[in-house]
Amino acid sequence: MEIRNFHKDDIEELIAFKSESMRISFPLHAINFNAEKFKTKILKNAEAYPSSVRVLVDEGKIAGYIFVVIQKTGLGKCGNIHHLFVRKEHRNKGLAKMLLDDADKFFKSHGVRRIKLTVTLDNSAAIKLYEKSGFKKTRAVMEKILE
Ligand SMILES: CC(C)(COP(=O)(O)OP(=O)(O)OC[C@H]1O[C@@H](n2cnc3c(N)ncnc32)[C@H](O)[C@@H]1OP(=O)(O)O)[C@@H](O)C(=O)NCCC(=O)NCCS
Repeated sequence: MEIRNFHKDDIEELIAFKSESMRISFPLHAINFNAEKFKTKILKNAEAYPSSVRVLVDEGKIAGYIFVVIQKTGLGKCGNIHHLFVRKEHRNKGLAKMLLDDADKFFKSHGVRRIKLTVTLDNSAAIKLYEKSGFKKTRAVMEKILE
């Protein structure tokens, strides 16, 4: 198992990962997933910061990936975990934790000290993972669906 920077050829698999995640996190809206927009964003970020999209490879096959972004905010630089995904057959082996540790190194190397992310409350596996990696719940996002 190795972690390497994203190559352009990886894009279709990452789109499939994102699409699967959207079905988990937004079951009512996943149909609106805009693959082209996602692709443009990944390619743009990977070009500006090659280590912002890191891919986990097992025997030549992509097992998971992490996509992070550095935002410049009024409070200084802030890291954002944009997406993290590990293929089902590779889960519960500490690989997501490994990708998050790798992202920490990337952020530190760019002078980022604060990292945030958004996660769906139903996604208990991801919440446990993030808590284990040192994230704390600091804000709540509230939503209302208009009929
Ligand atoms: C969430 C996800 C990335 C976890 O990947 P993973 O490689 O299985 O996670 P790890 O093996 O690194 O787990 C690290 C820790 O997270 C917690 N954890 C991970 N999966 C868990 C689960 N299903 N149930 C409970 N805790 C879990 C555990 O505390 C675990 O540490 P431990 O095994 O020492 O107790 C993976 O399930 C996934 O890709 N899900 C679909 C995409 C997704 O939801 N991404 C996050 C969107 S915000």
